Amino acid sequence: MNSFNIDSNPNSNISKKIKQITDEIESLPTLPGVVSQIIELTSDPKTSFKDLSRIISEDQTLTARILKLVNSAYYGFPRRISTITHALIILGFNEIKNITFATSILRTFGESDNLGDFNREEFWKHSLGCALASKMLAKTLRYRISGQAFTAGLIHDIGKIILDQYLHKSFAQIIEKVQSENISIREAEKDVLGITHAEIGAWLAKKWNLPAEIEEAIKFHHLPDKAIINPQLTAIVHLSDILVRMESIGWGGDDKIPSVNPLVWNSLKPLKPDINESYIQYFTSIFETEIGKVCSLFDIL
Ligand SMILES: [Fe+2]
Ligand SMILES: [Fe+2]
Repeated sequence: MNSFNIDSNPNSNISKKIKQITDEIESLPTLPGVVSQIIELTSDPKTSFKDLSRIISEDQTLTARILKLVNSAYYGFPRRISTITHALIILGFNEIKNITFATSILRTFGESDNLGDFNREEFWKHSLGCALASKMLAKTLRYRISGQAFTAGLIHDIGKIILDQYLHKSFAQIIEKVQSENISIREAEKDVLGITHAEIGAWLAKKWNLPAEIEEAIKFHHLPDKAIINPQLTAIVHLSDILVRMESIGWGGDDKIPSVNPLVWNSLKPLKPDINESYIQYFTSIFETEIGKVCSLFDIL
């Protein structure tokens, strides 16, 4: 899997700030081994169902969660599915990869040791909502890798968790500022730290060796016109973040609904030549039919 340095100038102010902040993080949260293995296996066309089910079955909690989910009303299959191999045949590689990723991320970062005003449960609802919205947009626009859209949507704001976990005092100050000054979390982050959750999240994605386009989508989800590797993926995550905010799903740290960057429509034209800002209503109506799924998926995970 390739990774690259999005920030081409290591001496820039942002790079220095990231280094300063991340140097304080003593032990980096690691991407659960099973997730890295699954990401690698599912990108290899030679992988068989057997390989994948063997890896998942080695993790008992993961196996139990996947089986609970495939047997839930979320999928609504009429017959009981009792093995991972069966779940894989019915749902396919991509769906199992998405579930594994979401389960593992929530298992690692779901609960906070810190007391404070940042509600993790609502945060993960925002993130899961964004993952499902990204998947819906990818499907609607026939974007080639909808699984990648789910992953990028799920962890687009992971930088906020890093700040909450490792720089808790500054993060509490940021949340306090959001509320007292009625500003966006990005503005508060810039005031307090000089950088934002997007840059911290991209740094983590790089450490985790996630594909460069996912790293880019995290870094530029608020500035989608800056994306160069895969502007379509970044545009999808940018739109999804706005959709979940419009539909009040969970809480991303502030109550602002940012406006859509008009340049995302240009990025998406290769997928849908007539796309423009009027599509937002169409996307909202499709997404509204899936909102119930966000809560039921969240409850199971
Ligand atoms: Fe964000
Ligand atoms: Fe967000």
